[in-house]
Amino acid sequence: MALITFRDVEKHFGDKLLFRDLSFRIESGAHVAFRAPSGGGKTTLLRLILGFETPDAGEILYQDRRLTPVAVAELRRRTAYVPQLVDWGMGRVEDLLAGFMAFRANAHLTGWRDELESLLPFFRLETRILQRDFHQLSGGEKQRLGLALAILLKRSIFLLDEPTASLDATLVHKVVDYFRGRADATILVASHRLDWIEMGQFRLLKVP
Ligand SMILES: Nc1ncnc2c1ncn2[C@@H]1O[C@H](COP(=O)(O)OP(=O)(O)OP(=O)(O)O)[C@@H](O)[C@H]1O
Ligand SMILES: [Mg+2]
Repeated sequence: MALITFRDVEKHFGDKLLFRDLSFRIESGAHVAFRAPSGGGKTTLLRLILGFETPDAGEILYQDRRLTPVAVAELRRRTAYVPQLVDWGMGRVEDLLAGFMAFRANAHLTGWRDELESLLPFFRLETRILQRDFHQLSGGEKQRLGLALAILLKRSIFLLDEPTASLDATLVHKVVDYFRGRADATILVASHRLDWIEMGQFRLLKVP
């Protein structure tokens, strides 16, 4: 049974067709990179999987089930989604993180502060970033915090939208390397870059 199946999926916005007859299967534990040019529909594809968008034709299955509200809720509970632009809203980084961790779905994650202590240096972030206002951070700092949060959530599915777009080459290497090592997780990366395929051995899936 595949984790996620696209069967003849079509999506357009107005008269702009993003894809038609798009079919693929993603097995549990697969590492897959979606590649398409800018505006090619990568973000939309991730949003379709999460049920934030609906297909105009065809069907999307999660564990061979239609994406009903119940199935979408279950999929989202298992998924860490890092959007293309990480935006946690207003507030201090530490307070915002604590807020996410206080959600009922995350309340069991009691060791996250200890893990964060080692994740920050991994992402080349200083501890004092926790005291800063999120909206004052650079794009790359926000992106790294988004990835750190995704890891802290201990989900088994990662949906990563251009997760290294704002990072320098050393950090790109580290991030790709980290996720390559996550054999326990299903990872879908949307990226116009080849790093994930060349360095990370992710399976290429071209869209459309
Ligand atoms: N909600 C929407 N309403 C109308 N058009 C949209 C909507 N969302 C996306 N589009 C359009 O669909 C196309 C694909 O957008 P999408 O964000 O999926 O592309 P992308 O591959 O992620 O691009 P990028 O590499 O620049 O992030 C774009 O032309 C975009 O303007
Ligand atoms: Mg995008």
